[in-house]
Amino acid sequence: MEVQSVVLKRTFNLHKEEYEEAALRALNSGWYILGREMEDFEQKFAAYMGVKHCVALNSGTDALILAFRAIGIRPGDEVICPAGTYIASVIGITENGGIPVFVDMDDHMEINADAIEARITDRTKAILPVHLFGQCSRMDKISEIAKKYDLILIEDCAQCHGSTFNGKLAGTFGNIGCFSFYPTKPLGALGDAGAIITDDNELAEKIRLLRNYGSKVKYHNEINGVNSRMDEVQAAVLKVGLSHLEEGNAERRHQAQMYVGGINNPKVIIPPVYEEVFHVYHLFPVLVEDRDDFQNYLAENGVKTQVHYPIPPYVAECYKDWGYQWSDFPNAERYAKQEVSMPIYAGLSDEEVRYVIDVINRY
Ligand SMILES: Cc1ncc(COP(=O)(O)O)c(C=O)c1O
Repeated sequence: MEVQSVVLKRTFNLHKEEYEEAALRALNSGWYILGREMEDFEQKFAAYMGVKHCVALNSGTDALILAFRAIGIRPGDEVICPAGTYIASVIGITENGGIPVFVDMDDHMEINADAIEARITDRTKAILPVHLFGQCSRMDKISEIAKKYDLILIEDCAQCHGSTFNGKLAGTFGNIGCFSFYPTKPLGALGDAGAIITDDNELAEKIRLLRNYGSKVKYHNEINGVNSRMDEVQAAVLKVGLSHLEEGNAERRHQAQMYVGGINNPKVIIPPVYEEVFHVYHLFPVLVEDRDDFQNYLAENGVKTQVHYPIPPYVAECYKDWGYQWSDFPNAERYAKQEVSMPIYAGLSDEEVRYVIDVINRY
């Protein structure tokens, strides 16, 4: 049997007619930028998240960049963030001249909340938890620290649409929640798209200006902005995706339960999940010492896998001037060298998951 790591076409086909109808409606509307579909999506996503504002943008990376710009990060300001994350989290900080201050990961592959306080200095301006793989970080502890030190909290929610900590949705703990709707995400568009959510009227207003050349009224540019607007086609298809988000999350949670219950090979470690967390399993990471051997073995048996993320940002080539060594953050290093993402997506069958489990257990 062949099992692919991601098949977007299958996820799309689950609601094909609805996606087609939505995309065609947007195409036939004759209005493609800053229109009704986008406004409607903003309202619906804000309502789903239970917040006052959603501002629809071009990507998750833009959401992070504009969030940090809106809170006024200036060159030299420090932002605490996880050492093991996707580089876009860090780009949000560095694009504004901020300095990422890395904290190693915990056993759950999230930022180690217990190690944050030790990294706070008088230049620290914000904390950026990244809810990786679909699991909300320890937001009780992180929110408490932000409050204690009067720090701004920006959440990177690119992978966790619908995940909760103690019943509260990831993205609603901090000042701003930043979402990506990249096609593979739990809520995915059919192209690039992203958004921020916030309860703060001023921040929402500022990001609305920033995304549109800094202007509310055409040719009146109040602040120095960019062009980062979600187009009408993406907004229309995202409304369809939003209406099926919980089904998709439930489907992946079911597949994750099968993996957790079925994998019994001691060479394959499944990281634990916080009790307080409702995990939406954007990805299903496992840790294996000899990753190349394991991935080759799986591939020979028809199982395609991916790695998230083989080079942590602190040792990324573009940031080599920072002078970090791999060993500076031992857990991030270990995850970068041992992580393998097993197939998990809406549309993957139980039979396929059972096959993957069987192949893993025979390794
Ligand atoms: C953790 C994380 N942050 C930010 C992003 C950036 O999102 P986008 O690809 O929409 O720019 C991603 C996307 O993969 C991500 O995984």
